[in-house]
Amino acid sequence: MAGLSVLLSVLYSLALAADSPNKTTVSPPFNYTRIDADLRFLPPPDSTFLRREWISGIMPQACRDFAILKNLTLGDFSVYEFVFADCARPWVMCQHKESSVKINDLAYTISTTPVLMRQRVRHYMAVGNTHDGAAATWSKGDIAFRLDFTQPSIVLHETSHGMDHLALNDFGSPFSATDAWRKNIAADAAVVSDYSNVNWKENFAESTVIAIYDRAMKMSGGGGVEAIQGSWRQVYHAYTVVQAFLGDQIWRNSEKKKCWMRYVDSDVVFAVNGSKFDTQQLLLPTSDVQVMELPDHIQEIEELLDEATSFDAAGGTHEMPTFVEEEPERCEPIQSSPAFFSSECVFRVKGSVLSM
Ligand SMILES: *[C@@H]1O[C@H](CO)[C@@H](O)[C@H](O)[C@H]1NC(C)=O
Ligand SMILES: *[C@@H]1O[C@H](CO)[C@@H](O)[C@H](O)[C@H]1NC(C)=O
Ligand SMILES: *[C@@H]1O[C@H](CO)[C@@H](O)[C@H](O)[C@H]1NC(C)=O
Ligand SMILES: *[C@@H]1O[C@H](CO)[C@@H](O)[C@H](O)[C@H]1NC(C)=O
Repeated sequence: MAGLSVLLSVLYSLALAADSPNKTTVSPPFNYTRIDADLRFLPPPDSTFLRREWISGIMPQACRDFAILKNLTLGDFSVYEFVFADCARPWVMCQHKESSVKINDLAYTISTTPVLMRQRVRHYMAVGNTHDGAAATWSKGDIAFRLDFTQPSIVLHETSHGMDHLALNDFGSPFSATDAWRKNIAADAAVVSDYSNVNWKENFAESTVIAIYDRAMKMSGGGGVEAIQGSWRQVYHAYTVVQAFLGDQIWRNSEKKKCWMRYVDSDVVFAVNGSKFDTQQLLLPTSDVQVMELPDHIQEIEELLDEATSFDAAGGTHEMPTFVEEEPERCEPIQSSPAFFSSECVFRVKGSVLSM
């Protein structure tokens, strides 16, 4: 028995060590206020986007499930779909009335997420104070933003969870569980943020935000991580290994990049009873983007996980420059029978205030 208990305790400590990177945070810490400001002021990928609002009474199943999980009134949601220039297939987004973000500002930030990452996101939700200390969540390809926690670093962090689970399956899923990832992180002197130490998935998501920042700034002629972090050598593997594995997918500013796939949206259902609203009979806008089922291993992630982020830890200011005109460039009703959309509007994104 003595032998067994020794074995168990060894396994136990190995399991603990394997659960998190267990490293100090880079010192000085990254300035996420700076990172968010830099990312927001990079030139936007396109000058216009299309916003269609759904009629009330119908919503994606995923939003209805979330609302029921969080005990929210179903009638308090608005549902929009957004079409950006780099993907012909829209993203359906649900907003609860207690969400404090302007939906167009959120759409703008989402539009600046590299499209090859964004294409892995199924639905976006903007909700009120539905979870403690949590900025946003990721599950089954969906992201939920609490209040106005929609800074670029948070949007990118959540989107990175999708990449961890879906984009590197040849190496393992989640990628953050592989030796390839863990040995590289072990080679660094520090992790990129306090939150990177919580577990390996958060470690990957936090590291990916820094990797995207570095790539985006260097591609636009800036200095990248080295310009804002004197101790970049302490975390060099974290961001360069993401860049090596995800390559072009994390490149934000490419005119030519288009989505090539999307995951099938959750069913459209009646809010009142959850029964399926038959969209077959509607003449919906179509696209030739390849639509795939979410892989089974994603379906197994049942919980919508609460997330803190470095933003919370850093306690940064929360100013969001507005780039999107509040007044649509044009708006027109869309006729269908039965009714599905209440309107279709085109919004213009103002030019970047930073001359590059
Ligand atoms: C974390 O690292 C420290 C210092 O190397 C070590 O003493 C501790 O046991 C580690 N903790 C875990 C949970 O592995
Ligand atoms: C972080 O960056 C912001 C924006 O550039 C700046 O105003 C602030 O002083 C910086 N904070 C620290 C602690 O350096
Ligand atoms: C759900 O909301 C209702 C109405 O506000 C409230 O009475 C009930 O206690 C809530 N249930 C939970 C589980 O939060
Ligand atoms: C659910 O509600 C819708 C809208 O009121 C209605 O048309 C539909 O028949 C209902 N379905 C069921 C199974 O009750």
